[in-house]
Amino acid sequence: MDLKEALEDRLTEEELDSLVKSFEVIGDIAVIEVPEELEHRKELIGETLMELNSHIRTVLREVSGRKGQFRTRDYEFLAGDENTETLHKEHGCRFRLDPTEMYFSEREAKERERIVDQVEEKEVIMAMFAGVGPFPVRIAREKDVEKIYAVELNPEAYGYLEENIDLNNVEDKIVPIEGDVREVCSEYFGRCDRVIMPLPKGSDKFLGLAMKCLKDEGVINYYSWSEDEDLFKDSEKKVREVAAEEGKSVEIIDRRKVLPYAPGKWKICLDCLVENKDNKNKKRLVGVF
Ligand SMILES: C[S@@+](CC[C@H](N)C(=O)[O-])C[C@H]1O[C@@H](n2cnc3c(N)ncnc32)[C@H](O)[C@@H]1O
Repeated sequence: MDLKEALEDRLTEEELDSLVKSFEVIGDIAVIEVPEELEHRKELIGETLMELNSHIRTVLREVSGRKGQFRTRDYEFLAGDENTETLHKEHGCRFRLDPTEMYFSEREAKERERIVDQVEEKEVIMAMFAGVGPFPVRIAREKDVEKIYAVELNPEAYGYLEENIDLNNVEDKIVPIEGDVREVCSEYFGRCDRVIMPLPKGSDKFLGLAMKCLKDEGVINYYSWSEDEDLFKDSEKKVREVAAEEGKSVEIIDRRKVLPYAPGKWKICLDCLVENKDNKNKKRLVGVF
């Protein structure tokens, strides 16, 4: 039975029409949108959701969009236990986190899978904007990489990143770094085969930095937002402009819609093969594409 069916006798038809069909589950926490018109029904919705799903311990309502540097959002507690720390499992990895203090989206598991599949043996990876570690931990668990440098600015998220590295026994592969990529990345210039940039808002500001982290040739997984029209055009233009400034050439290997963000707006990813214009060490990391 789904939420709508369970509430059939308790909400009016109009109220049932306003009820959202899906909700996100992070560990044992359910996160649901409750529109304004159902304000007076919010506790009932939270409690019913718990009754229907025995593995849910807490129900939170999203009350803002993502905001600020840390990309967090505000939540309202609806039902269950008020402790918002949880343990989320994804593809054999475990992530401890608190969604009210840091970014995490279980809806991006498939995208993480796609990136893991691209990674080749012995890569050195710069995982910018690492959050609690879903990209670096999944890669380290599933691939024989040389090293992953995982950078995170939010101190709360960074604490969980360290904990998740231990929890998944990947201490030998991941180096966690607390700070702003603009301040900590110069040490890794020219050392990486891949840079992952999962910060769609304003990520263009960091493209030059990402390119500097690459060896003579490497891959950037560049996330951005886009409108329906000319979905990839502006982001591709930006990547090419920055590459030219950095004396690099760039080939866009893949373009993807990752998830819808708002009506007509998408989170997108460009996989970019970036190379120094005078690269004499061609090894073409393209076997995976
Ligand atoms: C969209 S979240 C992605 C987190 C994680 N990669 C994930 O997929 O769950 C972006 C992350 O980048 C961090 N961040 C934002 N600006 C940063 C900066 N200048 N340097 C390092 N981290 C930053 C935020 O705190 C946030 O955790």
